[in-house]
Amino acid sequence: MQKAKFISLGISGLGLFLILGLLLHALSQQREDQTARSSINLARPVPDNINPGGAFTLTDMNARQVTQADYAGRFLLIYFGFTYCPDVCPTGLDRMGAALDTLAARDAVMAARIQPLFITIDPARDTPDTMADYVKYFHPRLIGLSGTSAQIDAVKRAYRVYAAKIKNPDNPDNYTMDHSSFFYLMDGQNRFVKHFDHLIDPTRMADILARLVR
Ligand code: NI
Repeated sequence: MQKAKFISLGISGLGLFLILGLLLHALSQQREDQTARSSINLARPVPDNINPGGAFTLTDMNARQVTQADYAGRFLLIYFGFTYCPDVCPTGLDRMGAALDTLAARDAVMAARIQPLFITIDPARDTPDTMADYVKYFHPRLIGLSGTSAQIDAVKRAYRVYAAKIKNPDNPDNYTMDHSSFFYLMDGQNRFVKHFDHLIDPTRMADILARLVR
């Protein structure tokens, strides 16, 4: 009697296990679909296998034209945003600054191999002077890059950056920008290494950078 009960429990347990397994499989399938879609929807995280990046021509804070070649040999930590950003950009840049300071406290030579760049997605308002005033709040070595709208469009395309103007019906000059928010770590030849979410813990970011920047 007890043995029969045990067997029937065993069978229903197996059934439950199979159902759970099917559910989990369906869920993971859905997640894979979402990951596949994320390469199309630019607001979603950039999968590391997409290899964003490429050549760029921009204007630095001294109104000097620069390209990726100006930073050759250094790792680049690139963030795209705009100086009027109320929340996302300051949060991200704060964390990046803290991560670089943490890394510098451990290994100043290694930290110095990383050049942080802030590239505007709002060239109409972010002039070289505006960028210079802004970046000093986040890290002493942070360089702000602006450019013509064609140059900014090209670099956004290359790095798979999503950005869209959100108009303010009451004041056309007071628009804001919706944008993707990632750090891109590029190696000394401007090849993509890794991306970080802007909400990453600075200590964790420093740990990962210490592993990747050699
Ligand atoms: Ni922002």
